[in-house]
Amino acid sequence: MRIKVITSNPGKMREYAQALEGLGLDVFQGSVPYDEIQADTLEEVVSHGMRGLMMSEDSFIIDDSGLFIDHLNGFPGVYSAYALKTLGNQGVLKIMDGVSERDARFECCIGCKLPGKEPFIVSASCEGAILDAPRGEGGFGFDPIFSSDGVRSFSELGMDEKNAISHRGQAVKKLVQRIKSVEDL
Ligand code: IMP
Repeated sequence: MRIKVITSNPGKMREYAQALEGLGLDVFQGSVPYDEIQADTLEEVVSHGMRGLMMSEDSFIIDDSGLFIDHLNGFPGVYSAYALKTLGNQGVLKIMDGVSERDARFECCIGCKLPGKEPFIVSASCEGAILDAPRGEGGFGFDPIFSSDGVRSFSELGMDEKNAISHRGQAVKKLVQRIKSVEDL
């Protein structure tokens, strides 16, 4: 089965391709503009986006993710893309300078519509902490400043390692289970 992942983020796309490789799901990147509302939760953003896309698209996957920092009451959360663009990782580290409470989590919410089937949403999160300084060259977005084991940043993990534990990797596992329950892969 071929399915379009609607994203403009090549880092996300690489993770989808890697995570779904060999599972009978052939994903390709598509860029279809859709409305991303400001809402309190990733689920609301995804659900609104799906309603709009379903007017023109028969099947697709969309992904909305974010970094939620406990000390900042969940900021940047649903504002993660904006925060990365304006503050960057250095800006986040500056806000967190001297803060001992560094717990954070990534959340990933995936919306999926298959041909002739009801749309559905799956979500997962990955607990971790904000590092004191950026580390590593791989990955994308906030990866250099987030660690799930307190030692290595997500940027220092291979993509297989990141997919095995990350918010997106776990959400993709749920996605595959849901797809398998309605389609022969
Ligand atoms: P969006 O889902 O594309 O809106 O992502 C929000 C922001 O979080 C973007 O700036 C992404 O780069 C960042 N982001 C999403 N997923 C990840 C991830 O797995 N690692 C690091 N940053 C991420």
